[in-house]
Amino acid sequence: MQPKVTAVKGFRDVLPAEARHRRRILDAVERVLESYGYAEIELPLLERGELFSRSVGVTSDIVEKEMYAFEDRDGTLVALRPEGTASVVRAYLEAGLSRSEPVARLYYQGPMFRRERPQKGRYRQFTQIGAELLGREDPEADAETLCLVEDLCRAAGIGKVTIEVNSLGDAICRPRYRDLLAAFGRALGTRLCEDCRSRLDRNPLRILDCKNDACRAATADAPLMMDHLCEPCRRHNDRVIELTTAAGVALGENRRMVRGLDYYCRTAFEISAGGLGAQAAVGGGGRYDGLVAELGGPETPGIGFAFGLERMVMAAESAAAGAITEGEGAATGPDFFIAPISETAAATALAIARRLRGVSRVVELGASDRKLKAQLKLADRAGAHWVVILGDDELARGRAGVRDLRRRRDYADCVDLAAAGSEIVGAVEGKSKGEA
Ligand code: HAM
Repeated sequence: MQPKVTAVKGFRDVLPAEARHRRRILDAVERVLESYGYAEIELPLLERGELFSRSVGVTSDIVEKEMYAFEDRDGTLVALRPEGTASVVRAYLEAGLSRSEPVARLYYQGPMFRRERPQKGRYRQFTQIGAELLGREDPEADAETLCLVEDLCRAAGIGKVTIEVNSLGDAICRPRYRDLLAAFGRALGTRLCEDCRSRLDRNPLRILDCKNDACRAATADAPLMMDHLCEPCRRHNDRVIELTTAAGVALGENRRMVRGLDYYCRTAFEISAGGLGAQAAVGGGGRYDGLVAELGGPETPGIGFAFGLERMVMAAESAAAGAITEGEGAATGPDFFIAPISETAAATALAIARRLRGVSRVVELGASDRKLKAQLKLADRAGAHWVVILGDDELARGRAGVRDLRRRRDYADCVDLAAAGSEIVGAVEGKSKGEA
C-alpha cells in the first residue's frame, strides 16, 4: 500500500532482515579494522561545501553534479557529505592529531549522499565503511592497506573479489602526463563525446573513464600514466606490487583506472565483486599525499579506502545464493512470548518479561485485549520458543504453564510467578532438556 507521503527518490528504508545482514557485515568488518589498529571516529553529516570542492575537486562529478549543497539560513554554504576522507582529514587537523598522533589509523561508517541516477546498488543515500591511515608514505603502508582490504572482504563474506590497482603519479609526473593526454584528446576532436571534450581543459584524466563506446574506442591507445611515471613513483609502485604479492594478495593491474575523486596520487585501487551487474565496485581507495596540506595542515601523506555497505550486502547475498532470510542473517525469534489473557494478568506479564530480559532472554509481550488464539498465532509467527499463558487462574495459583512451540509440548505449572528471571529460565530449560 502506498502511504500518502512516500520516501524521496533514491532514499530507501532498510527493513529488519537487511538491517540484520548489514549489522553482521559491519561487525565483521570492524573487527578486522580493529585488529589492524584502526580506531573509530564519528563525523558530522553536514560539512562546509568548500571542504569537498578543495579535496574531491570542483571538476569532479561528485562536486559538480551530485553534491547536496545549499545555503544554510546564516548564508554558510554547506553540503551533505558525499564521502568521508575529507572529513577525516579536517577532523585530524581540527583536533590537533597531526601533532599528537603523527601516524593515525581511523575508521568511520555512516551515510553518504550523492545525487546520482538511482538504480539497483546505486542510491542517493548510501552507507560507507572507510578507513584512513595518515602519516605514512612508504610502500609498506600501501601493501598493508591492500592486505587489510582483502582480509576485510573475506570477513564480510562477499565472495570472490578482484582488486585492481594503478598508479596515478605525483605532483612531479602527473602534470606532464596530464598535458600529454589533453593534447592526445584534442587531436581526437569530435570522436570524443561532448562531456569528454569539456573535460579536456579541466580534468583530462577522466576521458579514460568515459562509459561511452565511441570514446572508449577513440582512447584505446591513449598514453597511460603508468608509462609516464617519474622514477620515485615507479619505484614506489613496483615495491607495492612486490610486497602485496609476496603477502599472497592477488592484484590485477588496470592502467586506465583514474578514480572519480581528485585527491589521489600514486597507488589507486578498486575492489569489485561478482554478481553485482553494472555496480560491481564494492569499494575503492588510494593514496592522497597532498590532501592534508591542501586543507591547511603540514605535509602529511595518507592512504585509505571505503566500501559501500549496500553493495557488500548484495555481494554477500549473491555469494550465499540469496541467504538473506536464512542462516546467519535470519531472525531467531524471541525466547519467550508471554500471553496475558486478562487485564489483571497484564501487570504480572510485564513484570515477568522484565525479569527474563534482565537475564538476557528475548521476550515478546502479547496484549491482554487479544484472544488467546490470536496471541498464540502471533507467537508462532514471531518464531517464539516458549509461550507463557497468564490468566486469572494462574495468578490465583501463583504458577503458570509453558508451551514449547518448537517441540509442540505443554509443561503444566512449571513457572513460579514470583521467581527471579534466572529461576524461571532454569525451570523452563530444565523441562525441555528433560524431555529431549
Ligand atoms: P568512492 O569510490 O567514491 O570512494 O566510493 C567508495 C564506494 O562507495 C564505492 O566503491 C561504492 O561501493 C560505494 N558507493 C559510491 N557511490 C554509491 C552510491 N551512489 N550508491 C551506493 N554505493 C555507492 C570514496 O568515497 C573515497 N572516499 C574512498 C577513499 C577513502 N579513498 C581514500 N580513502
